[in-house]
Amino acid sequence: MAEHVTIFEVGPRDGLQNEKRPVRTEDKIGLVDLLSASGLPKIEATSFVSPKWVPQLADAANVMAGIQRHEGVRYAVLTPNLKGFEAAVDARPDEIAIFASASEGFSRKNINCTIQESLERFRPVLTAAKLRAIPVRGYISCVTDCPYDGPTPAENVAALAGRLLDMGCYEISLGDTIGAGTPESVARMLDAVLSVAPPERLAGHFHDTCNRALDNIETSLERGLRVFDAAIGGLGGCPYAPGATGNVSTESVNDLLEEKGYDTGINKVKLEEAKRFAHRLTRSKRSRLGLTPV
Ligand code: HMG
Ligand code: MG
Repeated sequence: MAEHVTIFEVGPRDGLQNEKRPVRTEDKIGLVDLLSASGLPKIEATSFVSPKWVPQLADAANVMAGIQRHEGVRYAVLTPNLKGFEAAVDARPDEIAIFASASEGFSRKNINCTIQESLERFRPVLTAAKLRAIPVRGYISCVTDCPYDGPTPAENVAALAGRLLDMGCYEISLGDTIGAGTPESVARMLDAVLSVAPPERLAGHFHDTCNRALDNIETSLERGLRVFDAAIGGLGGCPYAPGATGNVSTESVNDLLEEKGYDTGINKVKLEEAKRFAHRLTRSKRSRLGLTPV
């Protein structure tokens, strides 16, 4: 039987958080519902962050209330602090994610604190989540390069991954936030992280700014990683990582994995439907801006 690899869909969150024009709540819900129907096992639906920082996701509670939960699909949300966690709990996520950075510059720009302060902020979130038996995923951003500080030392990523695991995260998602990683820099970073954590506790999160995300996934597969984040249609970017494009697209990761003989459990026809819907969301915005629809 083919070995399973998990695609963790982050399009509704990482994909839509950077959209400048408003996306209607019902369209966000529609997107999550189509993704649920495609057999994706995990979907990051939204973020409970400050609406002053990410206005696009200010409707997080309504999105979570509106989606149709499919059996076997786990719905995740981002929570940067206890306030976000408490709001998220009411929305009944299957898991939550905290997000730290391996570089000080991005930590400051993205969550307005140092790395150390962010860990102190996450500690009560992890404690509260444990009390409610909600699993917590830990993101690390800028694992190879930072838009503010330049290249990230691999040992800093490894040290932070170790701390987040010790604090209780069940998995660490390693984020190439600006898509500047190469197979060489990703390999160096992974080799360092793998000295503190087994591959089963790690996930790859690659943005595709330089078209190297699939190569970086291959490098990660060779080192035993079996969970990869991706966004339907390659949507998105991070509002605090200027110039970075979206995550690697879910459909290209699925094609790569199938080509390599892995099982993802995804229905390609349904995934295509979700992709068309995601593209229509951005196309209608482009049309309103007077640009040529794709
Ligand atoms: P701050 O301004 O330092 O926080 O922001 P604060 O505690 O001073 O609060 C400011 C205001 O926000 C207050 O409201 C709070 O109540 C409110 P006011 O009193 O002024 O009316 N507030 C909240 N409201 C709703 N939900 C909350 C919340 N927290 C505070 N949870 C903070 C600090 C962390 C809140 C802010 O910086 C923030 O929300 N940042 C999130 C930025 C973000 O979402 N970035 C994108 C996600 S990360 C990413 O994309 C990378 C990733 O994909 C991996 C990769 O690619 O590398 C994960
Ligand atoms: Mg990201």
